[in-house]
Amino acid sequence: MPHDPDPPPAKKFKPGSVLFSLNQKKPGMLLPRKGNVSTPIDVQRKQLPIYQAKPQLLNQLRQLNNAILIGETGSGKTTQIPQYLYEAGIGRQGIIAITQPRRVAAISLAGRVAEEKRTQLGKLVGYTVRFEDVTSFETKIKFMTDGMLLREAIGDPLLLRYTIVVLDEAHERTVHTDVLFGVVKTAQRRRKELNKIPLKVLVMSATMDVDLFSEYFNKSPVLYLEGRQHPIQIYYTKQPQSDYLQAALVTIFQIHQEAPQSQDILVFMTGQEEIEALARTCRDIAKHLPDNCGPMVVIPLYASLPPVQQLRVFQPAPKGSRKVILSTNIAETSVTISGIKYVVDTGMVKAKRFSPESGLEVLAVQRVSKAQAWQRAGRAGREDSGSCYRLYTEDEFDNLIPMTVPEIQRCNLAGVMLQLMALGIPDVMNFDFMSKPSPEAVCSAVEHLELLGAVEKKDGQVVLTAVGKKMASFPLEPRYAKTILLSPEFSCSEEVISIVSLLSVDTVLYNPPARRDEVLAARKKFTSSEGDHMTLLHIYRAFKKVSGNKDWCRENFVNSRNMSLVKEVQAQLKEICLKLNLKLVSCGADTGSVRRCLAHGMFVNAAELQPDGTYLALDTHQPVAIHPSSVLFQAKPAYVVFNELLHTSRCYMRDLCLVDADWLLDAAPEYFGRKLHLSKS
Ligand code: CDP
Ligand code: MG
Repeated sequence: MPHDPDPPPAKKFKPGSVLFSLNQKKPGMLLPRKGNVSTPIDVQRKQLPIYQAKPQLLNQLRQLNNAILIGETGSGKTTQIPQYLYEAGIGRQGIIAITQPRRVAAISLAGRVAEEKRTQLGKLVGYTVRFEDVTSFETKIKFMTDGMLLREAIGDPLLLRYTIVVLDEAHERTVHTDVLFGVVKTAQRRRKELNKIPLKVLVMSATMDVDLFSEYFNKSPVLYLEGRQHPIQIYYTKQPQSDYLQAALVTIFQIHQEAPQSQDILVFMTGQEEIEALARTCRDIAKHLPDNCGPMVVIPLYASLPPVQQLRVFQPAPKGSRKVILSTNIAETSVTISGIKYVVDTGMVKAKRFSPESGLEVLAVQRVSKAQAWQRAGRAGREDSGSCYRLYTEDEFDNLIPMTVPEIQRCNLAGVMLQLMALGIPDVMNFDFMSKPSPEAVCSAVEHLELLGAVEKKDGQVVLTAVGKKMASFPLEPRYAKTILLSPEFSCSEEVISIVSLLSVDTVLYNPPARRDEVLAARKKFTSSEGDHMTLLHIYRAFKKVSGNKDWCRENFVNSRNMSLVKEVQAQLKEICLKLNLKLVSCGADTGSVRRCLAHGMFVNAAELQPDGTYLALDTHQPVAIHPSSVLFQAKPAYVVFNELLHTSRCYMRDLCLVDADWLLDAAPEYFGRKLHLSKS
């Protein structure tokens, strides 16, 4: 966290080491978009593929209570449908909600639609994401994260404020969208039974595989948006590639040397560190190319990038130079970039994986699904014909799973279970999931919640405890909510709330790779031998001392916007604490009590140093290692708790806090006594 791990050494560029074979197989539904930045916004709206279909669409949507709408990314579904409905007076009695899996998408889409409607954001058009509500009593078109709508359902299970709910990006199958399917279906049925205003539910997807959606909503009709389509040539490597980063590098420069300038390249990779490292290597190599190769502008794109930098991908490269965008899967469907002629697909993605036996959720680099591979290819054919270079063989492609496994079947369900129980759903085990999670995963989640004291078993039924009810009031993962609930006992609620707030926003630290030494020097003053949580707390205290001074932020490589957000999050968490009658107290300099509190809230994520210098997770005895970005990387303390696991070459713990074995034993004597041989120090 406080500083980047060592970058991988720059690799030598060996031209021609990846050979491709051409395959002309075309995916079924890749369509481009017309219009560019200089066209007036009204004209742009009319150039979208969806505009042609507007009358028929409205005709259908007026009558139907459930519908599925399919259309390629960029056809105008998300920005236009809410406006069409509103303008046609459909659902006027209430609010039209449009859910998004990603916070950035909800915010930027609301901004775009407000602009198209020529109104101030927060009036007719607004957005609600966790810890940020930009809506007013005037708001009729409301973009929100799927997680937020789910939270609102806890207070209002019938969603009475809304007349239309659009579940967008449904193909992503995030765990929140999946649970919402069940919640809106129930709300729809109950509203009918109670003679309330009907609820319309529209599911929107960028991929064709929607049978499951249609089936789930009582065989609801599927509306297809026709698109204009340009052919895309698909290339596969002749041999499997052992190093996809090297293969990507070679491919980028192969294209760069051969293709006409002004045709841009989009490369799909897995995450920030890898993207930044490859960006550096590309820039270095580009400096030393022969003169007949034009300049190259390399732009990274990932969710935690500051918004201003995210916008850079939309700006055209200077005349005569080529834009190379290195992106995570965020550019698959959430973000649309024009001018892309070449797609390079590593075939890899970083995603959650969950093992019910261990109860641990891990972020791991893994192969994409076929559906994802087609989405990626599609980004190349939007304005004209294009090419997609797959850095894997055709055989490897054939062996990919057809669809991405829904997140609900590969994540820790504890948070969702807690929310469902708070929603008053009597039998969570038998909830009407579109894709059922495995019984093992459900049991594991119940066990996790039991350990945290959130649920108990009564007469064979799992019920929410008083603690569990309180935990559900926080828009946080159960263990963070529990840590906050415990904090008054340790007289450190102020500190714990600050830490949880810091962990709840995108990274507050800014790590420009080119200025690594300066970053390290600046961070040194704040580094705590007690771990990353304490280091963050030090930075936050210093930030508050200078009242968020912009120069201070710049000098210390602190993201001032995200830091300001931390203050808002903190205020909201405090409000919840006050409602729950929790005492807000500070431990001042006694930061040991903060660590004690973290040990009590996060004991499930603990690890122990072994005689050979490695770590084992206490729960599962799985080998884990300290991530090089942690301030504890060198220190190697005997016991730590950690926030998350990241699986790359090894299984890394990220964001660690130094704890005592005694504290862990105190926190859960029975659990550690039963499962482990924790040695008392
Ligand atoms: O939802 P779908 O992918 O079908 O398309 P959309 O998000 O409604 O986007 C339609 C068009 O609106 C895009 O191709 C962009 O030209 C434009 N747009 C934009 O300029 N800024 C945004 N934040 C979102 C969309
Ligand atoms: Mg969309």
